[in-house]
Amino acid sequence: MTGSDDELTRKWDRRHRNAEGPGEVAAVLADNLHLLPAKGDALDLACGRGANAIRLAQAGLRVTAWDLSAVAIERLNSTARTQRVSITAGVRDVIARPPEPESFDLILVSYFLERSLAPAIMRALSPGGLLYYQTFSVNAVSDSGPSNPAFRLQDNELLALFRPLKVRFYREEGRLGECRMGTRDIAMLVAEKPVA
Ligand SMILES: C[S@@+](CC[C@H](N)C(=O)[O-])C[C@H]1O[C@@H](n2cnc3c(N)ncnc32)[C@H](O)[C@@H]1O
Repeated sequence: MTGSDDELTRKWDRRHRNAEGPGEVAAVLADNLHLLPAKGDALDLACGRGANAIRLAQAGLRVTAWDLSAVAIERLNSTARTQRVSITAGVRDVIARPPEPESFDLILVSYFLERSLAPAIMRALSPGGLLYYQTFSVNAVSDSGPSNPAFRLQDNELLALFRPLKVRFYREEGRLGECRMGTRDIAMLVAEKPVA
């Protein structure tokens, strides 16, 4: 691990140590629970304290969850015990070690944007597998999320990054219309890997 990786890990450890609870279930998941498969292997990639992993396990999926931060993984394991759900959680740098090809029926990514991982994420889905993705966009109405625009999606960027997949749900409202309403600041995608 390089010095800057170490620094990143310390930053996330500190944030997860000081945060309350497991975090919030991502809207892309909460709004699209009806699209989940009844069973299968799911990965929460860069899972943080694991609200999404817990929700996926409660929906009956066999869940793996990876994050760089050991503190996040400890917190996730503790919540999973309290909630009596089983999750295989591990400390893993998903950029250095992306998921193996065709290893998951569903991959969820929330508030983690590493563009170079898109091809590996698509490869890691089994045929017919689903991607749930949500993160901040540049075309936002509030200042929540990363201040560096490089860490935010451009218009339509999720669609471009995952173009080979079949779009099943997409939402990105930008600054259109009545900005106090709707689901702002983020883009959300649910997409399906074609069966060859
Ligand atoms: C904004 S948080 C989002 C956490 C969670 N997905 C959520 O929605 O609550 C970003 C997460 O990415 C993790 N992370 C950053 N770089 C990573 C990497 N290279 N490999 C694995 N996790 C990473 C951080 O530790 C942090 O938990």
